[in-house]
Amino acid sequence: MPRKKIALIGAGQIGGTMALLAAQKELGDVILFDIVEGVPQGKGLDVMETTPVEGCNSTVTGTNSYEDIRGADICIVTAGIPRKPGMSRDDLIATNTKIVKDVAENIKKYAPDSFVIIITNPLDAMVYVMQKVTGFPKSRVMGMAGVLDSARFRAFISMETGVSVNDITAFVLGGHGDTMVPLSRYSTIGGIPLPDYPGLSAEKIRAMEDRTRNGGGEIVNLLKTGSAFYAPGASAIAMAESIIRDQKRIFPCAVLCEGEYGHKGIFMGVPVILGEKGVEKIIEIQLTADEKAALDKSAGAVKELMSVVDNSGIL
Ligand code: APR
Repeated sequence: MPRKKIALIGAGQIGGTMALLAAQKELGDVILFDIVEGVPQGKGLDVMETTPVEGCNSTVTGTNSYEDIRGADICIVTAGIPRKPGMSRDDLIATNTKIVKDVAENIKKYAPDSFVIIITNPLDAMVYVMQKVTGFPKSRVMGMAGVLDSARFRAFISMETGVSVNDITAFVLGGHGDTMVPLSRYSTIGGIPLPDYPGLSAEKIRAMEDRTRNGGGEIVNLLKTGSAFYAPGASAIAMAESIIRDQKRIFPCAVLCEGEYGHKGIFMGVPVILGEKGVEKIIEIQLTADEKAALDKSAGAVKELMSVVDNSGIL
């Protein structure tokens, strides 16, 4: 059986991290693409040279030619510009819409049967651009946001309670922005819902939810020259692994909602099952009136960004 082919479009901070993780997990052979000459080749060679040390059988190759992504099984897209301090994810929209459009045209041409995972921000709007330009079915186009947001939430819960991250689950819905909806009721420590966990006050829970919402900004402010890359890279690779190995994990992913949660034609974070067919199912859960109102607000913010894309004349 041939190895899977994983194309990483964008060889920046997240792209390089994903190349290393994909090779270490032996998910397949990795093609690292970027428009900057030398960077994908250099990072690709560097990661290739880790494989004897790590004992993993994956090849990693850098390129500036889209020809080399031909026949890729999965494309993960980080091409674009990241945030700087003081910028919101939405400030990136015009530049990154043009870039993602170009990437989408090339994916459509060279990897027409691939699954596509988008990381470029503003996330939900960029998933929309990818789906619109490629015309791929909704099961093959998804955004990485909820996996990262819930990982952040899990990390904060672990830091607060001292319990292993392995025993903590977290649930985050909605757009990947300040309006995202961390759902504490559905987040658990050893199976115990957060609000019922001994010693965890409503105030502490609220503080962790807020920190999750601002998790990306917190790192941008610390780094000053870019945005987070280890956790985003790990999150996207977990999604790719669930598809490649047909793990059928449940992850919150940005996908096209067609009536789920009362929203139609909107790309936003909802829990899905990821397997060999890509987005195999959207899981719809009952929300309280407050949770539904928060999700509707988040959907409204995504809708606004989608109309900025529509009115930009770029597509
Ligand atoms: N085609 C391909 N690659 C491109 C293009 C393009 N048209 N334009 C820019 N790139 C490349 C850059 O050369 C750079 O190597 O995209 C890469 C982006 O890498 P970084 O600047 O290091 O950004 P990174 O931290 O990896 O984040 C990428 O993910 O989380 C989001 O907000 C973040 O939108 C940003 C994206």
